[in-house]
Amino acid sequence: MQRTFSIIKPDAVRKGFAADILSEMDKAGFKIFAIKKMFLSKTQAQGFYAVHAHRPFFDSLTSFMSSGSIIAMVLEKDNAIADLRKLMGATNPANAEAGTIRKQFAGSIEENAIHGSDAEDTAAFEIGYFFAGYELV
Ligand code: CDP
Ligand code: MG
Repeated sequence: MQRTFSIIKPDAVRKGFAADILSEMDKAGFKIFAIKKMFLSKTQAQGFYAVHAHRPFFDSLTSFMSSGSIIAMVLEKDNAIADLRKLMGATNPANAEAGTIRKQFAGSIEENAIHGSDAEDTAAFEIGYFFAGYELV
């Protein structure tokens, strides 16, 4: 079993797609290990996306991520990190494969419905950024 971290982003929550996205995760075999609805401050969004601090889209991305409620979760499954990235689809929904979450629910390269950790080290950082130890029992 492997754990990964995921966010249903503000665009998808706003459009009412949260339950549909959770259903896609369930159908793909992911178990929800921890979950919460939150509203990030701009500073909290900047901390989460610190690896992108020097990218041109950083300011817009962190404003978007703090523009409404998100649903943060830890998912569990064999090969969870790679399998979630596959289920998400490409960052730009225009390039995402049919059936992926981004193809179905994302509106643009920025407002792209879902986040998923891209490696074991980033998953560990991201789980620890959002969840305390007592929430992971
Ligand atoms: O989320 P993913 O790992 O697929 O993409 P990323 O390259 O790590 O970028 C993080 C997030 O920044 C994306 O999911 C988009 O929301 C946003 N982004 C953007 O607004 N414009 C870009 N050219 C690239 C990414
Ligand atoms: Mg990424």
